[in-house]
Amino acid sequence: MPPDNVLNPVLGIDLGTTFSAIARWTGRGTEIYLNASGHPETQSAVYRDPETGEFLVGRLAYRRGLIDPDCLALGVKRKMDDASQKIKLGEHEFSPIELSSRILDRMNTDVEERFPNGLFEATGSVVTVPYYFKAHQCENTRAAAEMADIQCLGVIQEPIAASLSYAWQMVNDYPDREGEEILVVFDLGGGTFDLTLFKLTQLSDKLIFEVLATGGDDRLGGMDFDECLAGKLLEKSGLSLDDLDSEDEDKARKARKGRQKLIEQAIIAKETLSTSANTYVAVADILPGQHIDVKITRQEFEECIDRYVVEIREILRQLWVMAKLEPKDVDRVILVGGSSRIPCMKDLLCEVIGEEKVYSAGNASQCVAEGAALYAAYLDEPDVFGREIEITTRTCHALGVEVAGGRFAVVIPGNRMAPCESVHLFANPEDNVTSIDFNVYQGSQRMVKDNTMIGTVNVNGLPPRGARELEIKATFKVSDDQKLSVKVEYDGDDGTPIAVQSVFTMQ
Ligand SMILES: Nc1ncnc2c1ncn2[C@@H]1O[C@H](COP(=O)(O)OP(=O)(O)OP(=O)(O)O)[C@@H](O)[C@H]1O
Ligand SMILES: [Mg+2]
Repeated sequence: MPPDNVLNPVLGIDLGTTFSAIARWTGRGTEIYLNASGHPETQSAVYRDPETGEFLVGRLAYRRGLIDPDCLALGVKRKMDDASQKIKLGEHEFSPIELSSRILDRMNTDVEERFPNGLFEATGSVVTVPYYFKAHQCENTRAAAEMADIQCLGVIQEPIAASLSYAWQMVNDYPDREGEEILVVFDLGGGTFDLTLFKLTQLSDKLIFEVLATGGDDRLGGMDFDECLAGKLLEKSGLSLDDLDSEDEDKARKARKGRQKLIEQAIIAKETLSTSANTYVAVADILPGQHIDVKITRQEFEECIDRYVVEIREILRQLWVMAKLEPKDVDRVILVGGSSRIPCMKDLLCEVIGEEKVYSAGNASQCVAEGAALYAAYLDEPDVFGREIEITTRTCHALGVEVAGGRFAVVIPGNRMAPCESVHLFANPEDNVTSIDFNVYQGSQRMVKDNTMIGTVNVNGLPPRGARELEIKATFKVSDDQKLSVKVEYDGDDGTPIAVQSVFTMQ
């Protein structure tokens, strides 16, 4: 094993919707860094001081935002699907990439500042993304890392990072063991829900992670539960925050402030209810002269998030169908993400898969950053673990092209094992067309406008033919490093085969 490298380690960063964490590879294992306030997780909150223009990140940002919510950005990761979006902080607007880079920069700087000036320089970092992130969301995450001057060795999907951290522990506990395990990573965080079914093969010289099936929702997490509970608390107190939509800016501002205060208390209550059967919520002056002072039980909280539990149960059911496996085939369920601590989530897994199989990682909120640090170590030095790491993923979203009427023609369906390849035959749509743009999309909707564009293959110089007389073959190939190559082939005027190829990065 290489010696500990305190000043020039490789890092793993879990850029979370609500909390982020940063870990390093020590040479023997992983270590989570504490931030400047001594916490292992940094709140993914960005506040811009309207007076000085200074940016704050983390708990302090969040606290300032309680007083001045218009200058606070939360849940930026949920906006990474549209980099052109503008997030208003006071009078100024910022892109999701810029604000994410502020979070990454803060975490990195917190680590750098622990060492005398200029001595610390990370060799490189791996940043995590949800499994469900599409190509452009992964690109936007990389761009945020670059903007924060972080040398990004790669991105890794969160469930893969979590299972890597689990596998590392298994290798340490049972170094001589060889065999296969079927794992489910149940990652319920602040913003996203990722469910991943893996086959982990432990060999003396290799660890193989084979993704068998995935499911999830990138709009399902702790933030949604906070909203539900906040609504319940208002209802129980006979209050409303209707002024949020008021035309009167003063009233709307007061309501926004009240809402932020309420959400803060809802989060505390929600987390308390994971260990207590009931709790009290008291918020003074949620609106001037109006207070909340109510008791709330775990049962009431679980009832108000029931529709999410129903959705999670359905995503779980689909997983078995997709993988052609049954819950009894699973050896371990790894709980990841802060919201997996909610008792009814664990109960659901115990009921469906079995209590003895449900495993909580050392710390459900940190194992993703630890797994990312392990992967960073591996990318930096492939011999580091004395074992090769092989990750076989699946295409998460279908891939295809735009056809007549803006419809989406699927070439490679979702949930296919990478590498994979598929061919689709097209014809020239009209008489004498000599050029066609193949717009390539990723998604699961029938119309391309509802999916995400990956790029375009411009095909020029087609031989003029009557409509539908020229056969055009499109071959889509996904490599195991998530690159999509699209080759378009047709016969030229004199019959010679002509091919045009483009390669797109999907991660
Ligand atoms: N004991 C608890 N009970 C219930 N919820 C909790 C508990 N502890 C933390 N949480 C919730 O977990 C969420 C944070 O979890 P985590 O740090 O895993 O999410 P994240 O990484 O920010 O989100 P994502 O992975 O979706 O991007 C917050 O919504 C927080 O309120
Ligand atoms: Mg997370």
